Amino acid sequence: MKAVIPAAGLGTRFLPASKNLPKELMPVFNKPVLQYVVEEALAPEGVDEVIVVNSHAKPQIEAYFEKDEALVAHLHAKGKNGLAALVEEASDLPVSFCYQDEALGLGHAVLQAKQQVGIDAFFVLLGDYFVPNKQMCKDMAAVSKAHGGASVIAVAPCPPADVSRYGIIGGEVVGSLTGEYKDDNNPGCVLKVNELVEKPSSDAAPSNLFIVGRYLLDPFIMELLETQETGAGGEIQLTDAMVRLLETHEMYALVVDPTSGCDAGTPETLAASSVRMVLEHPELVDGFFEALGTDSLTK
Ligand code: UTP
Repeated sequence: MKAVIPAAGLGTRFLPASKNLPKELMPVFNKPVLQYVVEEALAPEGVDEVIVVNSHAKPQIEAYFEKDEALVAHLHAKGKNGLAALVEEASDLPVSFCYQDEALGLGHAVLQAKQQVGIDAFFVLLGDYFVPNKQMCKDMAAVSKAHGGASVIAVAPCPPADVSRYGIIGGEVVGSLTGEYKDDNNPGCVLKVNELVEKPSSDAAPSNLFIVGRYLLDPFIMELLETQETGAGGEIQLTDAMVRLLETHEMYALVVDPTSGCDAGTPETLAASSVRMVLEHPELVDGFFEALGTDSLTK
């Protein structure tokens, strides 16, 4: 089973930094966001390869996952074996690439991986959002298994005023991850999706549950994407093809805790996500408070 990570966007919200550094390679401490996403993609049982959809304008992404034997040898010679292991960890990941040279939308990006994905269901993970405990995709796989291999999307509640920024679902609660039925749209709730709308007005939104950037999709979506017309923003939208998938295939939504993921799509959210990682994973950031000159973030 494959996981697809679209990472070919222009990253305009990160300009000027993203002029030469793809936003997916911006670091959270010493590791690029994209590496967190790749490691998360490999967490569910059965995922054996990650396909990064890249653009030829961002060769740094492919270079990051390539072996660098000279650097590794140099680090070993200097006795920096821990750093050598970290460098090798990235190049040992089972990552392959395909290309989208014009940012025509998320649906178009996913379509570029059609051949590599083949005939199995596959995950899509946005390249600028990561889930540190790697649990979300594992839970989605469990929901899919419980529903005959159906497509599953992760959703989370947002303030009603924010629905017009996201893809929003409508549906009815059919169960939960734990098996306990609770009709409350709380994390763990599973809904059968009957409606999907990209960026609705708050009056037209079927709920306040937005798609958070993790999908487990039936491969038939690729055929739909091949004939998908441009939608919102003049882009080929994945959500639009999923609306058509709903006509013939069951789809489920798993409500997730919105705080379980870290957005890294804008300078503000990347900074906030880095702070969260400091607070939640102090083991990653030995020396942080020393560098800050204080022993807490509240001073
Ligand atoms: P975003 O819309 O957040 O990324 O897409 P963007 O378009 O690069 O960012 P801005 O709006 O210009 O700042 C989420 C993910 O989908 C990828 C992006 O690279 C990002 O990781 N993407 C988006 C593609 O691969 N192709 C596209 O056509 C659009």
